[in-house]
Amino acid sequence: MSEGTADRQLRARARAVIPGGMYGHQAAPGAAYPQFMRGGRGARVWDVDGNEYVDLMCSYGPVVLGHQHPEVEAAARAQASIGDCMNSPGAVLVDLAELLVQTVRHADWAIFAKNGTDATTMCCTIARAQTGRSKILVAKGAYHGAAPWCTPAPAGVTTADHANLGRYTFNDLASVRQAAAGAGDDLAGVLVSPFKHDAGYDQELVDPAFARGLRELCDSTGAALILDDVRCGFRLHLGSSWEPVGVDPDLSAWSKAIANGRALAAVLGHDAFRDGAKRVFVTGSFWFSAVPMAAAVATIGALREENAIEKMHRQGEALRDGILDQARSWDLAVNYTGPPVMPYLTFAGDTGHELAGVFAAQALRGGAYLHPRHNWFVSAAMTGDDLALVLEATDQAFAAVRKHLGQ
Ligand SMILES: Cc1ncc(COP(=O)(O)O)c(C=O)c1O
Repeated sequence: MSEGTADRQLRARARAVIPGGMYGHQAAPGAAYPQFMRGGRGARVWDVDGNEYVDLMCSYGPVVLGHQHPEVEAAARAQASIGDCMNSPGAVLVDLAELLVQTVRHADWAIFAKNGTDATTMCCTIARAQTGRSKILVAKGAYHGAAPWCTPAPAGVTTADHANLGRYTFNDLASVRQAAAGAGDDLAGVLVSPFKHDAGYDQELVDPAFARGLRELCDSTGAALILDDVRCGFRLHLGSSWEPVGVDPDLSAWSKAIANGRALAAVLGHDAFRDGAKRVFVTGSFWFSAVPMAAAVATIGALREENAIEKMHRQGEALRDGILDQARSWDLAVNYTGPPVMPYLTFAGDTGHELAGVFAAQALRGGAYLHPRHNWFVSAAMTGDDLALVLEATDQAFAAVRKHLGQ
């Protein structure tokens, strides 16, 4: 843990050469946490001091099959031995685009990038190019990336960066209609996440009537329905996360889990938006790199062959049931929200996350790496032993909360 020598030494060196010691969500989420990691395998990770944890953060989503998945790693190694960065893409770009178009119902085409922010930003650009309009509606409090138009932090951001955004409330169709009316005839798109997963708040599943209402509004106005599937994609469903809801977007943004931890993002789109996608200039020095694409082809194959999403779901349900039983036995009022594979735990009345911090720090000491202010991620690599270890750790974590409350 953070008291470890190697972590302490690295933090001291980082403070001198990294602004603030670490940036963004890579900063350790509490004093008890290690800042630097050494490796991972399956559902376990090790920090630089050799402490082992069951990983319930999965790098904030990318690791879906578990760390060092053999088939994914073999595919990445095979591609790396041929070439990765080669002036132009490898054949694997077409293989992957075809596979995604077959796998995701609304998709007729794909464009690749590196990070989720690339993909959400590109969706907005394509929506604007296609419609010739400028306004994009986003849900209040939703996270769509770290570019100036969407970062939650005000530093360095100008009002002009937000000038073409309108705001609505997730699951509140009337608020979307009002924001759309505000955009008038300049509405280019509505950006939405598959469910409400704003960091630090209880999560909220989508009301299917809300999703259908967005689809109708976009159909009637000609605006693009844009699904931000960066966090949920291929963890909830092997296809777009709204396929089970019965609503298809026009454009969708992907990253995180699509290559089981390799740097890759994608925009998938319907034919109706192909022309806009052809006209925008989107590129990046590493956007054609072949190794992550080979990893993505293997990841999608393994997700299907291993029935991984169903497996994750079952483990997620067992985790939820175990944690809720423990909360009851410690007589602690909690909210456990979101899909079982992406849960989030809060304590009643704990608005400052004090109890969540006590819980997470003790869980970490017991060998379960979870987060006090962000949803967790279950991977398909989680075994019965991993789950048992997590539940042992969370039981002690509830005990620590009880003690903290002084009862
Ligand atoms: C829903 C959502 N959209 C976009 C992003 C941005 O992705 P990235 O950090 O890869 O740029 C994230 C990252 O957490 C996300 O959760």
